Amino acid sequence: MKRLFVVSIHMGVHILDGKETASAIRAQIASDVAALKERKPGLGVILVGDNPASISYVKGKEKACAEAGMLSRELRLPETATHDDVVAAVESLNAAADIDGILVQLPLPAHLDESAILARIAPDKDVDGLHVQSLGSLLKGEPVFVPCTPYGVAMMLSHNGIDVAGKHVVIVGRSTLVGKSLANLLLLKGAHGDATVTVCHSSTPDLGVHTRQADVLVAAIGRPNTITADMVKPGSVVIDVGVNRVEDATRKRGYRLVGDVDYEAVSAVASAITPVPGGVGPMTITMLLKNTLAAARMHLQKKGQTD
Ligand code: GUN
Repeated sequence: MKRLFVVSIHMGVHILDGKETASAIRAQIASDVAALKERKPGLGVILVGDNPASISYVKGKEKACAEAGMLSRELRLPETATHDDVVAAVESLNAAADIDGILVQLPLPAHLDESAILARIAPDKDVDGLHVQSLGSLLKGEPVFVPCTPYGVAMMLSHNGIDVAGKHVVIVGRSTLVGKSLANLLLLKGAHGDATVTVCHSSTPDLGVHTRQADVLVAAIGRPNTITADMVKPGSVVIDVGVNRVEDATRKRGYRLVGDVDYEAVSAVASAITPVPGGVGPMTITMLLKNTLAAARMHLQKKGQTD
């Protein structure tokens, strides 16, 4: 059920729970998957090297696929894989009839050209939304596959009754993966959109001048404590996309995850905030499932027309 959240009348901060929001959306996806008669949607994941964070993300994606009743197939390549090795893996998934979506886990090892590899994904299987054709469609206002993190941020807002139409959204960070794509999504006319968007980045002088204007502030810079309480307009909504590992000897793993926002201090000023972990993260994976289901429906419909 959709909870209506009113930004202007708040008593204490409202925690935007990504796990709860994601679980409601995933339940719907699982039921839509179960209703598909022909076959399960399939996701192919390419993982190059052994970056521990990437391994853990990929595990999370595969677990989510299984829980939603989807097929997942992982192609694991060594750190030393060449461009041709990775392209061959992409091509094999492009050709696989039971695979609807392909995700190349980023970052790739430094010797590989990310853009050149992403360009080899068949656009109709680009569930990560990072192929130039997907990004171009989004920019043009005709999105097919929206990158999962920006899509997750937009769904987190709308599912919790926060309408960005006419609001000033300030995004800190200009990556293709998050900032630039989110700006384009929130600028679209209609659903999820109609916001006034400002994008700030590492060369923006006096960041606080901009962030204090935000009705909705999105932090996606990848640096802990970048957004402090004095940079936030009282009563605004704060979305923290950052996932940073900081050393913590009290934890078994030796580190803990924090976002880009000084969570405790900003919680005293904002009307709503996403925690890290448990905020945007679960939403990102959920949108990957949603895009994979959409791709499967497209493929099944096309197959139905040609059979
Ligand atoms: N690494 C961190 N986030 C993402 C994502 O959304 N997609 C891919 N492919 N790699 C990532």
